[in-house]
Amino acid sequence: MADPWQSAYDFAVQVARAAGAVIRKAGEDEIKVQTKSCAVDLVTQTDERVEKIIIGSLKEQFGDGSHCFIGEESVSNGQPCNLTDKPTWIIDPVDGTTNFVHGFPFVAVSIAFAVNKELEFGVVYSCLEDKMYKARKGMGAFCDDEQIQVSDVKDINKSIIISEHGTDRSIEKVTKIFSTMQKILRIPVHGLRGSGTAATNMCLVASGASEAFFEIGIHCWDIAAGVVIVREAGGIILDVDGGPFDLMSRRMMSANNDIIAKRIIKEIEIFEVLRDDAPVPSK
Ligand code: IPD
Repeated sequence: MADPWQSAYDFAVQVARAAGAVIRKAGEDEIKVQTKSCAVDLVTQTDERVEKIIIGSLKEQFGDGSHCFIGEESVSNGQPCNLTDKPTWIIDPVDGTTNFVHGFPFVAVSIAFAVNKELEFGVVYSCLEDKMYKARKGMGAFCDDEQIQVSDVKDINKSIIISEHGTDRSIEKVTKIFSTMQKILRIPVHGLRGSGTAATNMCLVASGASEAFFEIGIHCWDIAAGVVIVREAGGIILDVDGGPFDLMSRRMMSANNDIIAKRIIKEIEIFEVLRDDAPVPSK
């Protein structure tokens, strides 16, 4: 049978590269910043512009109405965030908006594609580093056409673990996040890191630079592409309690292997977050 999604995959790579060029150029000018859910949840005109460019290009190419789109900024503007069986594009136009605003050099375009709720491929373009990560289900993971693989470290004491603290600054969540980090540091591990973009963090796991990245509070658009890339690089994706991963749950553990994942999971203090597909309360 002819491969139904290869052209969509190739097109996603082209679109991500073009979007990254727009982001790089926009970073040279003054960046106008607004806030979304709280004072540290930032958005810029570039996030909105790049999302429109990406979704516009995809609709032009696959615009018979059979494809759905979940984009970070569209959802912020009230569009639904439901994953159905239809072919669905899941897009973060600027992953690492805070980095982008501050000139901190990790910003990624993340584009994933799911069919029947199964992720088929993912593309993460780390546009300031000019690194193109991509993976298709069953076909391996690549960075700039070189195949990548997770690290083979099994000893937690020899690991680098990545996590982030997100944008929720409530005392309960900040306390749990830092208590978790303290416990992981004291295992001990070689180091704790965070690039400020979940998509790039997952690519660092996929390419063997880190053994695991986990976060509670991320969104489906931050991680969908990274999920395929980590899996295809030989890694695993779980829930932060060790159960099966659920893309809409806003909880994710990605790791090079089960031993590292389970050891970190023992230390994670879980807190509640609203699912991405939770019904929007009526006003
Ligand atoms: C954020 C980044 C960050 C993660 C946050 C995300 P955004 O995405 O991925 O690393 O800690 O949870 O919301 O807002 O820059 O697209």
